Amino acid sequence: MVKKWLHWPEQNENNAPLMTPAVVPPRLPGLKGLDVANKRVLVRVDYNIAPAADGAPVDDFRIRASIETLKHLIAAKARVVLLTHRGRPQGTPVAELSTRHLLPALENLLGQKVQWCADCVGRMAEHAVEKLAPGEVLLLENTRFHLGDPLNQQSFVHQLAKLGEVFVNEAFPALHRAHASISGLSAVMPEAVLGLNTQRELGWLTDLLGNVKRPLLVMVGGAHMGPKLEWMQRMLGHVDHLMAGGAVAHTLLAARDVPLGLSHFEPAFVEASRDFITEAGVIGSRLLLPLDLVVAHRDSPEKAVGVRMAGRLEGGDMAQDIGPETIRTWKGVIKHAGSILWLGSMGAWESDNYRQGTLELAEEIIRHKKAFSVVGGDGLLRVLDAVGVRADMPRVSAGAAVWMAALGGQPLPALQVMAARVNGWAGNDRRSSPR
Ligand code: 3PG
Repeated sequence: MVKKWLHWPEQNENNAPLMTPAVVPPRLPGLKGLDVANKRVLVRVDYNIAPAADGAPVDDFRIRASIETLKHLIAAKARVVLLTHRGRPQGTPVAELSTRHLLPALENLLGQKVQWCADCVGRMAEHAVEKLAPGEVLLLENTRFHLGDPLNQQSFVHQLAKLGEVFVNEAFPALHRAHASISGLSAVMPEAVLGLNTQRELGWLTDLLGNVKRPLLVMVGGAHMGPKLEWMQRMLGHVDHLMAGGAVAHTLLAARDVPLGLSHFEPAFVEASRDFITEAGVIGSRLLLPLDLVVAHRDSPEKAVGVRMAGRLEGGDMAQDIGPETIRTWKGVIKHAGSILWLGSMGAWESDNYRQGTLELAEEIIRHKKAFSVVGGDGLLRVLDAVGVRADMPRVSAGAAVWMAALGGQPLPALQVMAARVNGWAGNDRRSSPR
């Protein structure tokens, strides 16, 4: 059984808040106006970027999201020290997750040389920071090469805190994490403020949570169900339309006993998907699954062989994208949406034969300027890039899981810590941070 969610407000009218405003506290301090000249400024960015294949350049979208803040700090003559995690190395250095691979993209976007240090704490890091002149930038090694980061160990927080006087949180995609380099530093640093991109994206989140324009359409896709099923269940009753594509939809179709041939789906989620579909029917949220699918044959999965109505797939068929009837119907839903949140591609986008569904839905969102729309998530952004429409999307978020967390009612720990500081800690010990 998928867990029940108990804290949703019972609101579904036009422009009623979707979530309690406490998820994004108001009046958090920002970077503008802060005196950073000559100061060591620790900037927590989120460069959690997948390793690129065979020496290809890394996808620099998350780096780009931080550039305005970095340029602001450089111009203000701060000594800029960058912290980020990459992957989930569980406290062990992993060569392909080193931040060193990000230097060319970062230097290219900043237009200046960036120093690098092979650790993020300890004497080597402290020495590298000491050598840094005003206006220079230093990128430290992956914070998750130490377990103290994800475990939010206070000793690790203090090791990091030694490296600066000011903390800038520019890690919007990781705000749902109570980790040492995010919420931990927000608690102990003499000054802690939000970066410019984080403020911008929190503004979008606040708009969506606090003043949602109906109908609200949530679009889910991608290859893996993971935490999406539980999240979609939480969203039932609060969204007007829930659209599922990609392999996520295949698992939901399997739960309806729709024959899928050899299409990828996740048997482990089929039982829970049945409960979810039943609940969606009871609550009356419109769950939209593909009506037809572009299929390949098992002998050549790269090549589309035709379109089949869902339910008509044969033994050797592999569904790879949503079909034209689905695209037509879903474009109609997009056209009438007041707000749209889209987190995941609709087809097996790694092959350019299966990007049509995602492309056409993206084009419809671009055309439908009246809707408040946000797209996010690594896979989706990569396919939007590949089909040449990423720059035209109205709001592109560096994050995806953080949106799911916030819309699911989960507090964002670093923001809570900052809000507590602004409100004088309400009697709490300033040095502690929430887990
Ligand atoms: C993300 O990419 O969603 C964030 O960087 C958080 O990564 P995590 O799920 O590994 O904590």
